[in-house]
Amino acid sequence: MTNSSQPRTVSGIQATSDSLHLGNYIGALQQFVTHQESHDAFYFIANMHAITVEQDPAELRERTLRTAAQFIAAGLDPEKSTIFVQSQVPAHPQLSWVLECTTSMGEASRMTQFKDKSAKQEHVSLGLLTYPALMAADILLYNPQLVPVGEDQRQHLELTRNLAERFNYRFGKTFTVPEAQILKATAKIYDLQNPGAKMSKSQPSPQGRIDILDDAKALTKKIKSAVTDDGTEIAFDPENKPGVSNLLTIYSSLTSRSVDDIVAEYEGKMYGHLKVDLAEVAVETLTPVRERTLELLEDRTQLQAILDRGAEKASAIAEATLREVYDKIGFI
Ligand code: TRP
Repeated sequence: MTNSSQPRTVSGIQATSDSLHLGNYIGALQQFVTHQESHDAFYFIANMHAITVEQDPAELRERTLRTAAQFIAAGLDPEKSTIFVQSQVPAHPQLSWVLECTTSMGEASRMTQFKDKSAKQEHVSLGLLTYPALMAADILLYNPQLVPVGEDQRQHLELTRNLAERFNYRFGKTFTVPEAQILKATAKIYDLQNPGAKMSKSQPSPQGRIDILDDAKALTKKIKSAVTDDGTEIAFDPENKPGVSNLLTIYSSLTSRSVDDIVAEYEGKMYGHLKVDLAEVAVETLTPVRERTLELLEDRTQLQAILDRGAEKASAIAEATLREVYDKIGFI
């Protein structure tokens, strides 16, 4: 049962790693879980966006399922949220084509993510350029009010809003113009080895990143060897003490306690105390997620069945929007 009388939310995560990292978990997944209580929620795995850069087929398949399993293990309930895989709902690339024809070359080539990613690739696919039109389609098909995304996707959301308005202006009111909810915590979690950089899968050292599927030993080791700062005082000062401040942010996010409260508790104690306790908190929080993920991955038929059901529910809504669009633009 979806909550169809509630406002709608849509978001997606790319299937490009074996494990989501702590930034994804705190920034995105925990928000998704909260929103499913108050919204008619659609969450999908963006495997079509993943192939804008080269992917190994076996790896992509595995990562798609692993990401789905982590969604559920982190608390997304398939009875409350519609959880699906992007490529299983053909209306996404169908609407994307229409929106590609609504987007100008100039707009697409001005996207900073396109500029960054294409500068790093030897082979720049056309899909990397049209990526934001597919993302707009992902969103507009469902007419959501709310789209939670990381700061790096803000510009794509702005383009989505422009495309919705442009289409509505030309063909009459068709799409809801969605609001972005910029997920603050993703931007606030930094690499443990290099607290000047965001925690991300593109950081060189895996030691700096907490993966939600890390086992207790790996978690403890990474947290204990986190880079800290000069001095000894435990204080929240991101400018001068980025390492300790990052540990405090993580601690606060995992426990829902305020940073001030944690700082007060550690007055007069050493960095090592904070690390030991944080490692314990991380193990306590993430171990059940890890165990549930591995359990779900043991029965892939059942996991695939959940995704098939999600794709069916999503298709019913997406196809209605697509039909209206096709009709308005004169497709017979
Ligand atoms: N591009 C997003 C990212 O890399 C993932 C994504 C694809 C998405 N389609 C979406 C997010 C639609 C929100 C809504 O993070």
